[in-house]
Amino acid sequence: MSFKIIGTGRSLPGLQIDNDQLAEFLDTSDTWIVSRTGINTRRVCQDEAMTHLATEAAGQALDKAGIIPPDLDMILCATLCGDYLTPSLACCVAEQLGVNCPAMDINAACTGFLYTLSLAAAYFDSSRAEHILIIGAEQLSNIADWRDRSSCVLFGDGAGACVLSRGSALKYLHLGVEGNPAPLNMPVPRGNSPFSTTAPGQKFLTMDGQAVYKFATRMLETETRLALNTLNLSPEDVDWYLIHQANRRILDYVRQKLGLNAEKLPMNLNRYGNTSAASIPILLDELLDNGAIRPGQTIFMSAFGAGLTYGAALLEWE
Ligand code: ACO
Repeated sequence: MSFKIIGTGRSLPGLQIDNDQLAEFLDTSDTWIVSRTGINTRRVCQDEAMTHLATEAAGQALDKAGIIPPDLDMILCATLCGDYLTPSLACCVAEQLGVNCPAMDINAACTGFLYTLSLAAAYFDSSRAEHILIIGAEQLSNIADWRDRSSCVLFGDGAGACVLSRGSALKYLHLGVEGNPAPLNMPVPRGNSPFSTTAPGQKFLTMDGQAVYKFATRMLETETRLALNTLNLSPEDVDWYLIHQANRRILDYVRQKLGLNAEKLPMNLNRYGNTSAASIPILLDELLDNGAIRPGQTIFMSAFGAGLTYGAALLEWE
């Protein structure tokens, strides 16, 4: 079916913040954060723009794919916080790469990378593209409430990119949404319309952590079992499980429910925290750089996020 991944890249901001540094201005501790989340450090933007990180990750992916920007037929960015509400981050990357192909953002929160894969698959299936650049890029540090210890400690910034070309790596893709904005949201900032009668909403991302946790564990298990049953695979048949890097306890729950060895569920959330739509492409690029993923191996990807969105995909690495 439809595509294969022929190049990957990643870019993280230079500033690394550890838990002790957060405890200097928040009522928290390294012990609490590590035991409840598995996160030790995260990268946070200072003067880096999302356009810069996304373009850097894209450049690496293009180099590894052995193609040049004019070869691209489309750019898709999974993000909920580019540099502008408009234009899209994808348009800003197109400008940096000097290309005129269609470019657009997909906002499916932390599931965004899987949503971009789905859209790309539709373009390949309808023979409307030879090469598509997809990027997951997020600056959650810009929308987190840094006074709220129950959410800001979770997040980090970063970008991951993939170049797709026609192929048959994609074996399964399923997306969904449990339409419910309440557990995790951030309203668009109010303008100055003299006709508006609504009060300004909160200015930051707010989250009901326990509600998201329950949704995530339920959905990840359900979606994984659905994929495995559909493909007639047992959990052990899959070589790699690249699960959205949100919380080690969520990943441990999935691993235990499926009876998997820890090596099958790689993690980098200890170093980067939750980078939302960037977390799976960053992890994929690290595993490829380490030579961990080999041709013929199967990679299951699954994510959940605000919306509440969810999704799963299975690729056979070509
Ligand atoms: N340091 C110290 N104490 C804290 C902190 C902190 N950073 N944060 C919360 N606490 C306190 C709470 O105030 C509470 O105190 P109380 O008992 O006195 O009221 C206590 O710790 C327990 O709080 P809980 O919310 O029950 O803690 P929990 O074990 O549920 O962990 C967490 C919270 C880590 C947020 C967890 O619920 C979680 O990971 N949820 C999922 C979040 C997620 O994955 N979001 C991803 C989506 S992001 C996106 O789409 C953009």
